[in-house]
Amino acid sequence: MEKSLANQVALITGASSGIGYGVAIALADAGAAVVLNYHSHAEPGEKLADEIEKAGGSAIAIRADVSDPAQVAKLFDVSRARFGGIDIVVANAGLQKDSPFADMTLDDWQLVLSTNLTGQFLTCQAAVKEFRRRGPSTVSKALGKIICMSSVHEVIPWAGRVNYAASKGGIQMFMKSLAQEVAPERIRVNSIAPGAIRTSINKDAWDSQAALDKLLQLIPYGRVGAVEDIGKAAVWLASDESDYVVGTTLFVDGGMTLYPGFTNNG
Ligand code: BGC
Repeated sequence: MEKSLANQVALITGASSGIGYGVAIALADAGAAVVLNYHSHAEPGEKLADEIEKAGGSAIAIRADVSDPAQVAKLFDVSRARFGGIDIVVANAGLQKDSPFADMTLDDWQLVLSTNLTGQFLTCQAAVKEFRRRGPSTVSKALGKIICMSSVHEVIPWAGRVNYAASKGGIQMFMKSLAQEVAPERIRVNSIAPGAIRTSINKDAWDSQAALDKLLQLIPYGRVGAVEDIGKAAVWLASDESDYVVGTTLFVDGGMTLYPGFTNNG
């Protein structure tokens, strides 16, 4: 059977760790050639690109800071030079810099907003321009597909992380407004909103039994998520299987947004 993303090229920002890394593997497994963007740690992305190539796929790792327009432009230029065009862009790069509100420095605010929100703005803008440049696709019904990596915190407020929650709340309206604007060109823009996925970003929340027990109280489905859960969602949203899905946030969170605190309460 033909793989669902065969002959397509996917660019994933923040692909050297965590959810981005898992999404890159899933898209490559589904047949896409992948561009693995990383910022500070070259090794994991380059190693993954190597492994994908050895397994018969196509992959390249490229350094770029997504908050810098010149570096984003170069990321897309180098990708285009290598693969000719891009069909799928996953705007995933993101980080946390938590602190109580009154202690939060302007640097911590700006770093999170510039990576999580401005970074997606720059990545998606470059994506839209690239889809238009390449013109109609021969491998997909859409001109191009964009997946914004959001979070359950696009709707769940999060004390001690006003910068992170503001960035993800921003992604919600950013994604929908962009989706509305470019849908007539058959560019599909959607988000994935992961819940608690076992990665280094939230290690403190799952690496001791006490922390894990506390975290599980927030997850009706009773388990912490794995990057593969997000990878599968990304493959579907990037494929023609979801061709009529436009401007939607797909929550992949084990029910975290069902407000389980209300189960026997309220
Ligand atoms: C955050 C994680 C957190 C999860 C659920 C994610 O967006 O990056 O640190 O565990 O949301 O709260």
